[in-house]
Amino acid sequence: MRGNKDCPIGVFDSGFGGLEILKQVVKCLPQYDYVYLGDTARTPYGSRSQEVILKFTQQAVDFLFQQGCHLVILACNTASAEALCKIQQGYLPKYYPQRRVLGVIIPAVEKAVEVSQTGRIGVVGTEGTITSLAFEREILKLNPKIKVFQKACPLLVPIVENGESKSAIANLAIKNYLKPLLLKKIDTLILGCTHYGFLEKKIKKIVGSQITIISEGKVVADKLKDYLLRHPEIEQQIKKTGQRQFFTTDLNDKFQKLGSLFFGQPIKPQKIEL
Ligand code: DGL
Repeated sequence: MRGNKDCPIGVFDSGFGGLEILKQVVKCLPQYDYVYLGDTARTPYGSRSQEVILKFTQQAVDFLFQQGCHLVILACNTASAEALCKIQQGYLPKYYPQRRVLGVIIPAVEKAVEVSQTGRIGVVGTEGTITSLAFEREILKLNPKIKVFQKACPLLVPIVENGESKSAIANLAIKNYLKPLLLKKIDTLILGCTHYGFLEKKIKKIVGSQITIISEGKVVADKLKDYLLRHPEIEQQIKKTGQRQFFTTDLNDKFQKLGSLFFGQPIKPQKIEL
């Protein structure tokens, strides 16, 4: 059992996309220690059933708890959409009442509701995230008058992972996916997937300056900072030596390169089994 001031912050994603979020978190809060886990052996989660996503996410949270994390961020939207509620309401109170697991959906939703002028918000994400209706539910909790328009974009994760973010294929896919949302005259668009931050510039060009884009990295970092200010009992437990550790469930040259690309600097993950 770790003592006070000895707990790193855990960050989990189905793969390496969450490193894009961790990059922004580290930029904003560099003083803390972080442990990252990417479930690269079982990625993508986006097209899996809720039952499986919950099982995988719970295993990942357990692993991060074993590393001494008392606070874990689910950087994966699909895991946040399909598993977070059950973990927060069932698993934690029963087994780990002192520990906290947070997701990326509520931070993005709070920001979108804050900036939208017309109350017409678009959301893009994986199939799992979109069919869960988690974004819509959270937006309507904050303001039931808002109109939410969603679109699953299953091709965007493979496009990013295959290094095609700047290609004509990416352009075509984004245009196709966003067309129905643009027809609904949204004024705010949530990029509800770890990988879409990589496509932000392209998406901005396509949707134009009238639409505010909510990209999760910066938003999650700001909200985490605010959360830790409001929860000194948790903040005081976090180790502050600026160390970062990376774990993955599979590792090859491609993953190694991809990880470094998402994090913006070289990383050396250790392979583990869940
Ligand atoms: N990390 C996932 C998300 O944010 C995208 C990749 C996957 O489908 O596992 O939804």
